[in-house]
Amino acid sequence: HIYADAKAASRAVAEEIADLIRQKQREGKPCVLGLATGSSPKTVYAELIRMHREEGLSFRNVVTFNLDEYYPMEPDSLQSYWRFMREQLFDHVDIPAGNYHVPDGTIRTDKVGEFSKQYEAQIEAAGGLDFQLLGIGGNGHIGFNEPGSLINSHTRLMMLDNSTRAAASNDFGGLPKTPRKAITMGVASILSARRVVLLAWGERKAPVIRGAVEGTVTEQNPASYLQTHPNALFVIDEAAASEL
Ligand code: GLP
Repeated sequence: HIYADAKAASRAVAEEIADLIRQKQREGKPCVLGLATGSSPKTVYAELIRMHREEGLSFRNVVTFNLDEYYPMEPDSLQSYWRFMREQLFDHVDIPAGNYHVPDGTIRTDKVGEFSKQYEAQIEAAGGLDFQLLGIGGNGHIGFNEPGSLINSHTRLMMLDNSTRAAASNDFGGLPKTPRKAITMGVASILSARRVVLLAWGERKAPVIRGAVEGTVTEQNPASYLQTHPNALFVIDEAAASEL
């Protein structure tokens, strides 16, 4: 779906998420959302907060699992995805504390494997992901599944690409201080969601969007794996669609 701008696109995505939350409320069930960080989903979160404030959209039945976290990373660090999610969404809605999960960037290296298995087990115990929101890296990464990630990859520690670190380096005060690793949900974990929506805004994303949508399915562009999903949607603005 191509929209004139990110605002109109974000409104449509927030509307879909809100409809899902309300439907699950009517069924008396939890609504399990996979959430993303980065700049792209910010406008979706802002719209959900507006719906909470002005339309009484409740998040009491919402359970969330974030895609990724830098490693190592303290939750209260300025750059942590835990902090990002609290500031961009959780602190502004009525989601119960304990219902939201972000991979733990403080876990000991030798425990990351065990932690990753538990994270996936928690998602499964919650009933699986009803909806997964995604951004896309300039190199096609989804979550932090960098090029080379396999379609059957699970939650794990990932070495970040140089281009990913360079894109994040402003937030960390330069490349040397930018983390080299992250914990990310795997491609298989993402594809297990019953619905997947990927967001991309701006001309900068146009080449990678073209590859993901029109190119072959390849580990060189992990977003292209979404072509194999029965219920995935790319929601992009005209600039990101300019090479389609
Ligand atoms: C980071 C995140 C990704 C996100 C990407 C794109 O690498 N881990 O989940 O999709 O950035 O970010 P942006 O939306 O700011 O372009």
